[in-house]
Amino acid sequence: MTPKKRHMLLLLMLVCSGTTEALEPISTTIAVGMAATLTAFLASYPNIFNYFHECCRPEWISFNRTGLEVDLENKLFGQHIASRIILKAVTGFMSNDNPKKPLVLSLHGWTGTGKNFVSKLIAENIYKEGMHSSFVHVFTSTLHFPHPSQNHIYKSQLQQWIKGNVSNCERSMFIFDEMDKMHPGLIDSIKPYLDYYDKLEGVSFRKAIFIFLSNAGGDKIVQKTLEFWKAGRSRKEIELKDLETLVTLSVFNDDQSGFFHTSLIDKNLVDFFVPLLPLEYRHVVQCVLAEMKARQPQPDKDVADKVAKDLVYFPKSERIFSVKGCKTIFSKLDYYT
Ligand SMILES: *[C@@H]1O[C@H](CO)[C@@H](O)[C@H](O)[C@H]1NC(C)=O
Ligand SMILES: *[C@@H]1O[C@H](CO)[C@@H](O)[C@H](O)[C@H]1NC(C)=O
Repeated sequence: MTPKKRHMLLLLMLVCSGTTEALEPISTTIAVGMAATLTAFLASYPNIFNYFHECCRPEWISFNRTGLEVDLENKLFGQHIASRIILKAVTGFMSNDNPKKPLVLSLHGWTGTGKNFVSKLIAENIYKEGMHSSFVHVFTSTLHFPHPSQNHIYKSQLQQWIKGNVSNCERSMFIFDEMDKMHPGLIDSIKPYLDYYDKLEGVSFRKAIFIFLSNAGGDKIVQKTLEFWKAGRSRKEIELKDLETLVTLSVFNDDQSGFFHTSLIDKNLVDFFVPLLPLEYRHVVQCVLAEMKARQPQPDKDVADKVAKDLVYFPKSERIFSVKGCKTIFSKLDYYT
């Protein structure tokens, strides 16, 4: 690396703070080797590099409510309850300058119903870099916490990580994937961070967002959705109250859920339980059409039907819901186009 490049990199790393103090020693260093005009330029635009390198600042982190609303409307299918809760919850939280606790969402549903996808939409409408943001952290149980015997290590690691990440940027987002595969107890180790504390060891967690993703409770959601279907009622009539107690109870009492008897639920630290309904054939078609539209200007309904017909549906007799939701459509679409 040339000295010049090294200076630029140093600048990029330090200017995030946005203070002229942090800039001062660097600009002096540069002045030695570089034209005075550059120094003058930097002095008059001390925050200029905030635009090139991701910083914990509004240039990089700001909530776009319209964006989230439009995305939920156009990209998430068959999830009227989840769409409504997510928009309300995130909007309320992000427009509050002084939240009393971090936002904690717990998303529940069958495979492929869009739990990861919803988290991505939220991230994309808060962070300019979306899921690639260095302030968005994803923990996957089977990847980050694979061995139950190491649980005591994971606990302190997880605490250190989250504390470090939030000290770096209070608007950090944490996504815990596969909560159902997480050892119960591990999640309790971060409980204090989710609670109503002003500060813990000098760090405030109140502006962070925690999202838990889990299949737990998915079977109850399927049952209820099937009940509505069998009674000839529209799935849009299903309301949160039809599912909320059902899901929280089953999640709390399911020793496979990662939330097993956790005080997170006991103490109401989870702000919203978000149920995702199993997807029907028509929703899969919508998913495929949306994906085609993203790839080419003219989506082809015949191809969408072919892809949707290729999937497996359950229960065996009625074949209403896609076993894998919209999850496998991408490879199938590659095959048909
Ligand atoms: C917010 O999202 C809307 C809809 O996607 C988009 O048109 C608009 O440009 C976005 N606003 C900002 C500030 O990014
Ligand atoms: C932030 O979290 C990541 C995991 O996403 C971890 O690798 C990193 O060390 C953490 N940063 C700090 C400062 O603790």
